Amino acid sequence: MLPVEIRTPRLLLDLPVPGDAEVVTRYCQDPLFEQYLTTPWPYERAHAESFLSTYVPGGWASRTDLTWALRTERGGVLLGVISVRETQNEIGFWMGSEHRGGGLMSEAAAAVCTWVLEGGVDGATTVFWRAVEGNTASAKVARSAGFRRIQPENPTVPTRDGAGTLPAWYGVREVDVDPRAEASWNDILEARA
Ligand SMILES: CC(C)(COP(=O)(O)OP(=O)(O)OC[C@H]1O[C@@H](n2cnc3c(N)ncnc32)[C@H](O)[C@@H]1OP(=O)(O)O)[C@@H](O)C(=O)NCCC(=O)NCCS
Repeated sequence: MLPVEIRTPRLLLDLPVPGDAEVVTRYCQDPLFEQYLTTPWPYERAHAESFLSTYVPGGWASRTDLTWALRTERGGVLLGVISVRETQNEIGFWMGSEHRGGGLMSEAAAAVCTWVLEGGVDGATTVFWRAVEGNTASAKVARSAGFRRIQPENPTVPTRDGAGTLPAWYGVREVDVDPRAEASWNDILEARA
């Protein structure tokens, strides 16, 4: 599959490229990434180079992991990354720390879900989200993007080394946002006015 561009009111989502290696290396030094992501730790420039030159194009070609850069304009600096991974259409994202808090990731996540569910991914009827328990910022992005929290028995995410698991929060998004979605987060997030 060829990489697809998605536009939102404030963003262009396009292909992360080798020229983004410097900012990706810098963003991925964030201690939050050690806590909440499975990106390599410690993170070195070689990790960014291999991610951008091999993993990202390979994921698009095989349709196994579709990864976009968040930019405000074509050729602009990469602000963050969002991806959708087979086989459950699981969404994942991170934002460079200096670009957080302006609602951009929520905007990107909503647009990516719409794209996936409106034919971007053949046969997709749901998008899945999970995060390490306590990752409130990620849960707020999922809530804003129309996910409904689900509570299966013993929800987990794998640890970085894949040897164990951590307790997790789960959510699901369908093409039409479930009317119960907003309230489903009230156990873990303060309700929005
Ligand atoms: C999760 C992440 C991408 C959110 O990015 P962001 O730019 O803050 O996202 P948004 O601006 O769309 O904000 C989403 C919400 O989180 C809130 N928020 C931002 N940082 C927060 C924090 N540290 N704690 C609690 N809430 C936070 C925002 O106020 C906003 O709230 P609202 O929906 O009520 O308006 C970013 O925090 C990040 O990169 N974290 C590290 C990587 C990570 O955990 N990724 C997710 C793995 S599942």
